[in-house]
Amino acid sequence: MEQRLDDISICENEKAVGKAAAKMIAQQIQQKPDSVLLLPTGRTPLDMYAYLVEMVNAGQVDLSRIATFNLDEFYGLPQDHPGTFRSYMQRVFFSQVQVPAERVHFLDSNAADPAAECDGYEQKIRERGGIDLAILGIGVNGHIGFNEPGSAFDSRTRLVPIREETRAANAFLFNDHLDKVPTHALTTGIGTILDAKKILLLATGRSKANAIHEMIHGDINPELPASALRMHSHVTVLLDSFAAPESQETGNRLVPQPGGD
Ligand code: F6R
Repeated sequence: MEQRLDDISICENEKAVGKAAAKMIAQQIQQKPDSVLLLPTGRTPLDMYAYLVEMVNAGQVDLSRIATFNLDEFYGLPQDHPGTFRSYMQRVFFSQVQVPAERVHFLDSNAADPAAECDGYEQKIRERGGIDLAILGIGVNGHIGFNEPGSAFDSRTRLVPIREETRAANAFLFNDHLDKVPTHALTTGIGTILDAKKILLLATGRSKANAIHEMIHGDINPELPASALRMHSHVTVLLDSFAAPESQETGNRLVPQPGGD
């Protein structure tokens, strides 16, 4: 069992985090054109998707053979509601690139039988040969996907309640109307994430610094879900300097800055 994360890079700013992440994804796809990706939503990966679109348009990466699964989805909304992660992904990524629709997978925010939906999602991931690269953000409380504190490290895709602080963090998708943010979500589990061959975690901004510190230095404990990543042998962490206030202490290296390579 791994106990420490040793591939941690501090980027100068959040754009540099996005660019480094897009490059990692492109490399993964260049090495394995039919890569299976687990994709995040939220504010953190917006630059990553924008750079990836640029790389696709520049002919540097071909997405025609990849398959994607989204990490999680709100539960109890029509699929085409602007607040769903399906809608987010269409807006920021899939409307701008060509990925065959049959290779793009989402959890159904409107599933009549959520348990069957979640089991079916795990089945589809298995049928695609498993996740090659899981890309994650991290919540202020250390969550990954919608695996809130207390989630079992062997948890699989399931229906979960969303904590109030996480609902508040997602209100921006609902015109800042907290009452409109769903109370439940479907999420891939920590076990599902740990089954990925490689994991890339991104964090930007001061609000993430405590969760990142605990992930790196704290106990490996379900109360800090991201600490589970220390049990995985291929994790890369990309931070901006705000999310990594203790960069000197951890002795991390810098990654190339935008335009600097
Ligand atoms: C989103 C997801 C969440 C976010 C996390 C950070 O698909 O799984 O775990 O990655 O809440 O969100 P942002 O990036 O908005 O700070």
